[in-house]
Amino acid sequence: MAERYGNIVGWGKYVPDRVVTNADFEKRLDTSDEWIVARTGIRERRHASEGEVTSQMSTAAAREALGIAGLRPSDLDLIIVATSTPDYLTPPVSSQIQHLLGAGHVGAFTLVTGCTGFVYALATAQQFIASGSVTNALVIGVEIISRFVDWEDRATCILFGDGAGAVVVQATDEPCGVLSFDLGSDGSGAEHLILPAGGAAIPVTHEALVKKQQYLRMNGNEVFKFATRVLGKSLRQAIAKAGLTADDIDLIVPHQANVRIIESAARQAKLPMEKVFVNIHKYGNTSAASIPIALCEALEEGRARVGDTLAFVSFGAGLTWATAIVKLAERKQPVSRRKRWFSFLGWFIRDSSSLRSSE
Ligand code: COA
Repeated sequence: MAERYGNIVGWGKYVPDRVVTNADFEKRLDTSDEWIVARTGIRERRHASEGEVTSQMSTAAAREALGIAGLRPSDLDLIIVATSTPDYLTPPVSSQIQHLLGAGHVGAFTLVTGCTGFVYALATAQQFIASGSVTNALVIGVEIISRFVDWEDRATCILFGDGAGAVVVQATDEPCGVLSFDLGSDGSGAEHLILPAGGAAIPVTHEALVKKQQYLRMNGNEVFKFATRVLGKSLRQAIAKAGLTADDIDLIVPHQANVRIIESAARQAKLPMEKVFVNIHKYGNTSAASIPIALCEALEEGRARVGDTLAFVSFGAGLTWATAIVKLAERKQPVSRRKRWFSFLGWFIRDSSSLRSSE
């Protein structure tokens, strides 16, 4: 069987209208625009408005991606949603998105690996496509973290923003899409980035609420050290697995967590910052949504183009890391449809020649 690859043929994003600037935080916390910009690179972020939910934001991003791909929701064979902030703990938000999109009764599942979720989901979609079972997959990274941060904790609440990004991955026989990936996790660092209450370990009780265990807790220094330790290495490994060198990478689209972490990863992989896409100043850390949102903007701004080889590099809760080397290729007719047409052509030629010989 010919090899099948997953080309990214559509992309879309949704960010809430509500802009929260560093000056807004200065009004209610002991912080400053100067500190936030110098330590993180963030100038503003978007927060979902009351009533805005993960499933709706995802659907908006997905519709945009399907539009660019020229597909209808009914053309999808699979939906994978990466998020740590679904509408509900159960049912899975992926099924709500499938329903809102009107995507027929396709398989849909939610994948939770924190900020690395989108890269894990993309690598997963690629496996379904390579196996021959899926032609069109929708991969979404989405988050409403603003509902899970403690507004009195200045070390965490200034970092995060809300948003959604989506890509359509389509089967093709041309080598492109995810050329290689490097996924990893180290659960020994679980407590460094954790939302303690709401799972089976600590149900949401009055006591848990008093202890503020319903909010994200982070040991910023430990996460920072972890990120700078793993990112450069993961990036180098993924580039090598793809049989490429750093020079072959046209653009790094990193998880937008902290501009200092991004600079360190680029330095370690021997890639100049001109080859790195950064939009953290506008959106802060949108966790699983940050790479697909950044990809959309890189394409919109012409920083990434069809034919380019990109590196998606991320780290997050778990602790986890994930890198994918992705080649954007010209869109062709999806491989399975072309095959169907060829088999029809083969049948037609065989049939008409047998008809002629029987004449
Ligand atoms: N405004 C002003 N001061 C702040 C502050 C804020 N918003 N947040 C923390 N500080 C203070 C600290 O309280 C500390 O004060 P102290 O020395 O009196 O205790 C001081 O700044 C330095 O804190 P430190 O934690 O050493 O700062 P830092 O340079 O490590 O930056 C982070 C803090 C959170 C920005 C940084 O550690 C980071 O980005 N870590 C990674 C977090 C991350 O990416 N998380 C998401 C993973 S997907």
